[in-house]
Amino acid sequence: VTEPLVLGIESTCDETGIALVRGRELLADVTATSMDEHARYGGIVPEVASRAHLEALRPTLDEALNRAGVDLGDVEAVAVAAGPGLVGSLTVGTAGAKALALSLGVPLYGVNHVVGHAAVDELVHGAFPERFLALVVSGGHSSLLLVNDIATDVVELGQTIDDAAGEAFDKVGRLLGLPYPGGPHVDRLAKEGDPAAIAFPRGLSKGKELARHPYDFSFSGLKTAVARYLEAHEASGEAYSRADVAASFSEAVADVLVTKTLRACAAYDASTLVIGGGFSANSRLRELAAQRCEEAGVEVRIPPIRYCTDNGAMIAALGSAVARAGLPASPWDLPVDSQMPL
Ligand code: KG4
Ligand code: ZN
Repeated sequence: VTEPLVLGIESTCDETGIALVRGRELLADVTATSMDEHARYGGIVPEVASRAHLEALRPTLDEALNRAGVDLGDVEAVAVAAGPGLVGSLTVGTAGAKALALSLGVPLYGVNHVVGHAAVDELVHGAFPERFLALVVSGGHSSLLLVNDIATDVVELGQTIDDAAGEAFDKVGRLLGLPYPGGPHVDRLAKEGDPAAIAFPRGLSKGKELARHPYDFSFSGLKTAVARYLEAHEASGEAYSRADVAASFSEAVADVLVTKTLRACAAYDASTLVIGGGFSANSRLRELAAQRCEEAGVEVRIPPIRYCTDNGAMIAALGSAVARAGLPASPWDLPVDSQMPL
């Protein structure tokens, strides 16, 4: 039996993504973004994002159908990210998905955006092993997932208790006077610095805190430590290297992410790690993950960056897995959930 042609719709934040997937094959993936409209505010403006989704949905859909060489009438299931994300953005995407599924007479699958970040890797590197760990890191989330089955059994082992990894980078970027979003700029500056120059703290990594939060992350204390370091040096006039600050900060983030993830791989006997989310572009995270996973005998799978940032393919991939697992369709009154649990 051939698997259904699944249309995936992503609209949790500022990207409108539409993709078509059959089985584990990606037929088309088109993304529109309202990022440029938010840049001058130094952050996402929810109402601007919602309106942009409304305007982008139809042209993005047409472009995806066009590139896949299929008609709208060929679509056999519609998957949509129902959360977590911005309520207004989610509402536009799910309303669009419901209208399409209802008019086509095909099932609607509301899926979780964070799980989608892991699911997309199946389109790139093939079927998943029986059990694996997924580290999903971006401007909005930092989650460690134990995946027994991508459609039916995903457990969140831990997540950030304050800032997401990308968010911490953006805040440190601002402290260093770099443009928004600061993440990639801090990453670039870090390459010129010494990662061992400054001993910045590793949150939730020792004693009682580690015992209580074995797989959670915390980056706000680290960000504060960077702020204190810069303030102290500005006040005293003592010379310091911005590149060393960027490198030592990047080292602290990557070290905690990789250390906790590998501890989970050992504890749950998983020999495959998928890394997703826009922060997976971070150079130090990639280096450290490659190096330490090799030592630990863990295979690392990271999709190309266009499938790590928010996109429709991740939602279509998860919808396809849900259809393959034979799960029931979502109800027509499928709600959105800004804090959607797994
Ligand atoms: O998944 P994504 O595109 O969207 C959001 O979650 O908003 O992730 C973007 C986040 C931003 O915080 C950005 O600064 C950060 O990931 N980021 C990076 C790098 N590339 C993107 N942070 C550090 N190093 C990078 N190379
Ligand atoms: Zn995301």
